[in-house]
Amino acid sequence: MSIYRLLFICVATLIITVAFGAEPASPTPRETRAPTKEAKVTFNAVHVDGPYIAMTFDDGPSATLTPKLLDILAAHHIKVTFFVLGENVTEHPEIVARAAREGHEIASHSWSHPNFAKMSLESVRSQLQRTDDAINNATGKRPTLFRPPYGSITEREKHWIHDEFGYDVILWDVDPLDWKRPGPAIVRSRILKETRPGSIVLSHDIHPGTIEAMPSTLDQLEAKGFKFVTVSELLAMASPVTPYPKAEAVGKTAAKAAPPAVPGSSPGD
Ligand code: NI
Repeated sequence: MSIYRLLFICVATLIITVAFGAEPASPTPRETRAPTKEAKVTFNAVHVDGPYIAMTFDDGPSATLTPKLLDILAAHHIKVTFFVLGENVTEHPEIVARAAREGHEIASHSWSHPNFAKMSLESVRSQLQRTDDAINNATGKRPTLFRPPYGSITEREKHWIHDEFGYDVILWDVDPLDWKRPGPAIVRSRILKETRPGSIVLSHDIHPGTIEAMPSTLDQLEAKGFKFVTVSELLAMASPVTPYPKAEAVGKTAAKAAPPAVPGSSPGD
């Protein structure tokens, strides 16, 4: 008797498992879940209640230019975020250590600046792990943010990276195209024109014109009332947005660069 009862319980359990287990696998919940997760993982800008912005500098550190930039930032009492390349960190760990010591955020921009949209997950893992280790060796702290080279990354990679490394994926909404070396005055005017509260400003500490543009750019941003924070600080300030996530409305430049199938759409990042 007990065997039949056991059999009945087994069958009943199986039916319940199949019936309820099938539900999450149906396409409808997956579709509704994706955009919610997307908004949480990737940021072009942040909706904040206040004049806060994050200046970001990619592709360094540079042996000569990054220390110059650090001097300028120290003189202005401004904290920024560096999206560094792991291979450059191992060449100049002392510069990265100084930046971290002076209150700047050190974030990952990959090991050697490849196009993530065209890579296997194994290669992505290697690029990120080596950079994570290099930053940790230089600063004693692991990064929490990642910016894909060229802004090029697939949806699958974004979520995989977030799950595997815990990184938020940071793009930008202000792009002065400083990698084209248009001259300091143009870099400055583009940043001043496009920056608004919650902006994430993209530039590079490997181009002399960008460093040359910074003292006056920072002066004029300050004169407009902007206050400078790191990207992690900006994320922590995020305030609720209605009716749609801000990421949909802002970031026209980054939105252009974001589609994974367009390599080199933002060659300077
Ligand atoms: Ni870059």
